[in-house]
Amino acid sequence: MSITNFPAGRGSSSAGIPITKVTMPALAEMKRQGKPISALTAYDYSSSRLADEAGIDLLLVGDSLAMVVLGHENTMAVTVDEMLHHTRATRRAVRRAMLVADMPFGSYHASGSEAVRNATRLIKEAGAQAVKIEGGQRRAALVQRMTDAEISVVAHIGLTPQSVHRMSGYRVQGRTSDAIAELHADAIALEAAGAIAIVLEGIPREVAAEITARSGVPTIGIGAGPDCDGQILVFHDLFNLTFSSPAKFARRYADGAAFFAEALERYRDDVAARTFPSDAESYHLSREVREQRDAHQHVLELETAGKP
Ligand code: KIV
Repeated sequence: MSITNFPAGRGSSSAGIPITKVTMPALAEMKRQGKPISALTAYDYSSSRLADEAGIDLLLVGDSLAMVVLGHENTMAVTVDEMLHHTRATRRAVRRAMLVADMPFGSYHASGSEAVRNATRLIKEAGAQAVKIEGGQRRAALVQRMTDAEISVVAHIGLTPQSVHRMSGYRVQGRTSDAIAELHADAIALEAAGAIAIVLEGIPREVAAEITARSGVPTIGIGAGPDCDGQILVFHDLFNLTFSSPAKFARRYADGAAFFAEALERYRDDVAARTFPSDAESYHLSREVREQRDAHQHVLELETAGKP
């Protein structure tokens, strides 16, 4: 395996970012200082490790893993056990970033006690520092209850993918005066209930800017324009690994699909042509063992030649 273990006692990541753990107060301070928060989804050890070492401030084990990792049509199918599995893998990789885990559809809807139980598992068994839930004012009592149970909650409003059926698709929200007023009321209620940050997804830039200016906690935007306190992207969007046409906001920083496809085709061709592995990529017997075996072979040949 070429991914090395964490070097002991190193004071900065491979990108030269000092390893000072990103905490909730640190995110609040970044908002106060007007310092943008970088966030990204993360689902496994190797990519989470790269993101952490690159200095991304917040990693979210998003329920988008249902789609981009597990191949489901939407985010609804992922289970608490699957979220635990991926959060544990990410936790093993992350030293600096704040680690947030999504609560999947159905894990916080039936009752407050069940929500607290599931969130506690993500924190206790998988090492998340906070959990994220979708929904506005109607989640405020739950955010309060979880906060009272010492669970840090990131809220998520606007385009909430777990409501895909109610929204009839992934549509930009907050385009009318009433809808804008609702979003403001959502943000105010969630902050008052104790949310430590609010994800704003799929809303007009102007509305996100207003909410950000009024909010006492950091806003993290996705498809919400550049005026939020931070930005989050789905890892697979950033690397063109989604096999679908990108949303307007999903800037592709690298063509991972082309990169992987080219390498995979070369590997396939090398195997077909027997040029992989080479002799240098093979293990060899020591000279001593080779000589012993050659001598043994020689004796066998002599014996065979002497037989009638
Ligand atoms: O699951 C996810 O990836 C998310 C982000 C889009 C914020 O919730």
